[in-house]
Amino acid sequence: MNEYDTQVASGLLSHQGYSQAESEDEADVVIMNTCSVREHAEDRVFGRLGMLGKKKKEKPDLIIGLMGCMVEEHREKLFKRFPQLDFMVGTRNISELPSIIQEVSKNRKQVSKIKQDGISIEYSDLVERNSDFYAWLPIMTGCNKVCTYCIVPITRGIEVSMPAHEVYREASRLAGEGVKWITLLGQNVNSYNGTNQLSVGAGLPSPGRGDLAPTIHGRVGFPQLLEMLCEIEGLERISFTTSHPQDATEELFRVIAKNPKISRRFHLPLQSGSDRILKRMKRLHTYAEYKEKIDLMRSLIPDVSVTTDIIAGFSGEAEEDHQATIQALEEIRYDSAYIYKYSLRPATPAAKLPDDVPREIKSERNQELLEIQKKITIEQNRKSIGQILNAFVEKISTKAKKGTDNNSCLLPFLIGRTDHDKKLVFEGGPSLIGKFVQVRLDDTYHETLIGTLIS
Ligand code: 5AD
Ligand code: SF4
Repeated sequence: MNEYDTQVASGLLSHQGYSQAESEDEADVVIMNTCSVREHAEDRVFGRLGMLGKKKKEKPDLIIGLMGCMVEEHREKLFKRFPQLDFMVGTRNISELPSIIQEVSKNRKQVSKIKQDGISIEYSDLVERNSDFYAWLPIMTGCNKVCTYCIVPITRGIEVSMPAHEVYREASRLAGEGVKWITLLGQNVNSYNGTNQLSVGAGLPSPGRGDLAPTIHGRVGFPQLLEMLCEIEGLERISFTTSHPQDATEELFRVIAKNPKISRRFHLPLQSGSDRILKRMKRLHTYAEYKEKIDLMRSLIPDVSVTTDIIAGFSGEAEEDHQATIQALEEIRYDSAYIYKYSLRPATPAAKLPDDVPREIKSERNQELLEIQKKITIEQNRKSIGQILNAFVEKISTKAKKGTDNNSCLLPFLIGRTDHDKKLVFEGGPSLIGKFVQVRLDDTYHETLIGTLIS
């Protein structure tokens, strides 16, 4: 979501005549797009603000701004702590960025624009994508769950969905511009619930064919939205992130199973393998219920690749809870997992619980989980060696890889993504960028697949 917001911000500013500076030293305006999910990310922003403050002493005209979740979380308090900070723009106010910068340079007073309700998504053809063929597409923001560790409900507010016909129109526009792969974004895309003025599966207009069919069909959920988007000509792959187990339904799995355009990667955060901890986290399911869902998903979409998020060392986590998470990783055998140490976030419900797993133990558990998962990831990937994989060619790499898990060597290469959204590298020319190709998997290197172009 932050990456998308950054693309929106740069697009808006380019449109106003700004251009990206070669380095921070040359910049007249420095804007940090921030994340509040973990303390470490916030600390880095505070550190950078300190450094920029020093720079501003030498260059008093420098304008320093913040956007993203930290703005929503800390609000105007940050102006007192960081007098060098010129402006803050909330996640729902990005379109005001150019006028805010103008106001600051005119009046040299601190400015904040932080709207607390509504949706932060505003589709615009000014978005500065970093690929001609791949695009992010936010469809909803906010979250109505109350996972006790999580700051998102505080920073992004309640769930708000973009109307389905607007998502459809934007996806069609992107397809019309040559985009082949979109990733739908939202804090919990599975609970998407948008108004709709389109009929599903009834000869929808293809990109560039004027206005949309005016059939009113009430609200649509995420599975229906996916079906609508699958009808867009030219759009060849649709992926999405992220999901909550409670809202990942059989209906959704069935829609994915029958639509080859939908990516075969399903990211379904587990957070912990221990029921006691899941309850403390208010995740609304037990491990057995989660596992049942994974089994159902795997039976309906046999080629699905499942990935997850895990938090190590949450409040009250005992050794046996940690062991339950290890067991879960070993039982489910994810293709990949994001594993992070628990970070207490002020104002979350868990802030009232003790952060009682000692720092070293948290680190040890985190490391152990990472190592176990790394081994599983490699084993999972190596199972496909020799197979021919479908790959979308994203870009050409600027640097050559030195080794592989088999210590072989690789020359300049193309970087692609498989149907499972895994990174795949292989030798080939730049004319293949933006195309789907067939690649034989030869080897792996950590999470990266290495192959040979077949056709
Ligand atoms: N500490 C550590 N990890 C967190 N996440 C969310 N909040 C925290 C926190 N306070 C992780 C969860 C979530 C992912 C986006 O970030 O695993 O799924
Ligand atoms: Fe946070 Fe995701 Fe839980 Fe929502 S579902 S509160 S975004 S972890």
